[in-house]
Amino acid sequence: MKVLLTGGRGQLGRDIALALSGRIPPGGTRASLHRPPGLDRQTGVELVAPDHATMPVDNRLAVLTLVSELRPDVIIHSAAMTAVDACESAPDTAFQVNALGTRHLAEAASRVGAHLVYISTDYVFDGRSRRPYREWDDPGPLSVYGRSKLAGERECPFGATIVRTAWLAGVSGANLVKATLEQGTGSTPLRFVDDQRGSPTFTADLAPAVCTLALERLPGVFHVTNGGEATRFEVARETLALSGGDPDRVVPITTAELDPPRAAQRPEYSVLDNAALRLSGLPLLPDWHEGLERLIAALGSPSVEGGTR
Ligand SMILES: NC(=O)c1ccc[n+]([C@@H]2O[C@H](COP(=O)([O-])OP(=O)(O)OC[C@H]3O[C@@H](n4cnc5c(N)ncnc54)[C@H](OP(=O)(O)O)[C@@H]3O)[C@@H](O)[C@H]2O)c1
Repeated sequence: MKVLLTGGRGQLGRDIALALSGRIPPGGTRASLHRPPGLDRQTGVELVAPDHATMPVDNRLAVLTLVSELRPDVIIHSAAMTAVDACESAPDTAFQVNALGTRHLAEAASRVGAHLVYISTDYVFDGRSRRPYREWDDPGPLSVYGRSKLAGERECPFGATIVRTAWLAGVSGANLVKATLEQGTGSTPLRFVDDQRGSPTFTADLAPAVCTLALERLPGVFHVTNGGEATRFEVARETLALSGGDPDRVVPITTAELDPPRAAQRPEYSVLDNAALRLSGLPLLPDWHEGLERLIAALGSPSVEGGTR
């Protein structure tokens, strides 16, 4: 089984690469690292993860050429322009990467008969629901990022897997948990928004689930997040509580109090019901508190890449 992964150097991509090589088993404990990509004897998966420069997804020729050469069985498309606020001032680039880039991967996948897996977002929803969004609810993105990711979903062929996830945190990349830990030793108040509710999700839990859906070629839209829901204020408080800091340093603010204000509007409520997984009898991810605890432990472990606070 040959898998081509885009965005393999990103926050989620790195953990997908580890999961494909069996180093994050289902259930999510992240083991050790630094094995180069290639054929993994444990899982029998041959992973190819070209970086941005090697295969810019918005370059049709580059995508078609590399995919035709490699002839993967499965393509996991995790690359995206993910800077939500930057997308507002560069909408053409956002659509070029997130929508047109996905079109190129869909075209390339169909040429070689590969199964396509597209990673999407809770920001396709408008946040006006008062119950968790199901896969079959109508989207209504509020931001350029959300619209460009929804456009990417619509570029996926029938039979592709679309994984909508949310509020990611992992060992790699910048995220709310790492930002909180980095400021954890000071005494100044940490201000976090308390009027947006979502589904905090940990890449060490998400990645094995993405790999299962990909390798089993399960078609359709799947919401895949950790269980439970929270605001960023609640996640930051819990992060300090679990890491021995003072949770009372975290102060709740409203979105309107953000200084400077963010360019992109976020949904007030974007909790995802993992209904397609649940109704298919597939395993659900653990509650977000559990994922957070394991991420904090991994970040404190010197054996883990990026594992210093
Ligand atoms: N982060 C979240 O909270 C969140 C929530 C919901 C859904 N998602 C989705 O989950 C996926 C992974 O997110 P993430 O947090 O892992 O993102 P990330 O850390 O920003 O990684 C994105 C990756 O895409 C690559 N990339 C960007 N533009 C590219 C291009 N034109 N061609 C090829 N590669 C390109 C980046 O490479 P360079 O850095 O070298 O440019 C990077 O490796 C994305 O599809 C995102 O939309 C993320």
